[in-house]
Amino acid sequence: MLGSVLLIGIPILVVTGLVSYASYNPRLGHNDTTPARGVLGFYLFSWITNPSWIYRVSQGTHVILGLVLTPVLLAKLWSVIPRLFAWPPIRSIAYALERASLVLLVGGAVFEFFTGIFNVEYFYPWKFSFYDAHFFGAWAFLVGFTVHVVLKTPRLMAALRSRSLRAELRTGVAETVPEPPEPDGLAPVAPSAPTISRRGLLGVVGGASFTVLALTLGESVDGLRGTALLAPRGRSYGGGPTDFQVNRTAAAAGIRPDVTGDSWRLVLRGPVVHQLSRPELLSLPQHTYRLPIACVEGWSTEQTWSGVRLADLARMAGARAPVSVYVQSLDENGAFGRATLSGYQVSDSRSLLALRVNGVDLSPDHGYPARVIVPAAPGVHNTKWVRQMSFEVD
Ligand code: HEM
Repeated sequence: MLGSVLLIGIPILVVTGLVSYASYNPRLGHNDTTPARGVLGFYLFSWITNPSWIYRVSQGTHVILGLVLTPVLLAKLWSVIPRLFAWPPIRSIAYALERASLVLLVGGAVFEFFTGIFNVEYFYPWKFSFYDAHFFGAWAFLVGFTVHVVLKTPRLMAALRSRSLRAELRTGVAETVPEPPEPDGLAPVAPSAPTISRRGLLGVVGGASFTVLALTLGESVDGLRGTALLAPRGRSYGGGPTDFQVNRTAAAAGIRPDVTGDSWRLVLRGPVVHQLSRPELLSLPQHTYRLPIACVEGWSTEQTWSGVRLADLARMAGARAPVSVYVQSLDENGAFGRATLSGYQVSDSRSLLALRVNGVDLSPDHGYPARVIVPAAPGVHNTKWVRQMSFEVD
């Protein structure tokens, strides 16, 4: 049962994880978080803008599902612990290969869950790059996982067919009988009287997963935020129309009011160079869209953004059909104070340099005086406190 849950859940983690990397548009300048990827980037594609919720759903699924599967993974590892230490490690070539695949499988799973959970908690007790480690760890894990699935699927099917789940769920601890001896040596040789039924074990694991789900879902579902007790950045952001999630505050980024005040200018670079004050930006045609903002660490929310179309700014810089735009923030020392957007992202009419949100000026923490908002882009590419946009033309 635990294996079949992981068999469904883990491939979803793999696909959404690989999608997460593709969403950075790593082939565009300054965006690549894993430059050593080599041939493992074979699947990359130019990131899309439709549907606008795609990254929200994909990354929310990656993180929430990963957290929810953690009790299942732990229970699965616990259930096979005797096999992990089986001795001697080599009995035949096939056996040795299977054992080797377990290093990638178990080591990979523990490593991926460990680094993923620490990352969403913004806790980095290591010296290596999370991106490199989690990306290459995923591929190593995938090799072990594939070998394991091929070798074990017949056993899984036979085990599921061997007894009725419904009957097991009706069996209390008093009627629980130990497993009969079986060839893999997983059943205890001289079992004591059972202290928990199989139903009880599934209940504990399912209950733990459900509790994690209940405490994290609110990070991605508007209206449930109050229940997101595990949200590492808290649940309240000051009240009013700008009361929604903030990852990096203006204070944390060192953005002082004197650099975002009257002296602030947006610099547009392209065939033509332009400087615009905030009142000048506000006098340009304004457009309003309801768009999600979705953080790579899993939280997301949909808000109503107003501002100037990126395509209009491109035209002002003399770039009618730009190949890309390099956006720089006042927060250039931050890891994500810059991002390159594709020409395709710029040309989407909903891609904005937002000046207002939910009918009011952006708050300092949401990127005042101006921030990028692009449909379906990962949150880190919706650059806050924008100071310069450099459009590249063919
Ligand atoms: C077997 C399990 C897992 C696999 C195969 C996997 C795979 C991946 C891959 C390939 C990436 C892209 C890495 C990159 O951008 O270079 C990724 C990103 C990510 N993963 Fe996982 N992952 C797993 C489990 C988890 C878990 C359990 C969590 C946390 C609960 C998690 C959190 C994240 C986060 C937050 C990112 C985005 C990081 C960023 O772009 O800043 N992952 N995952």
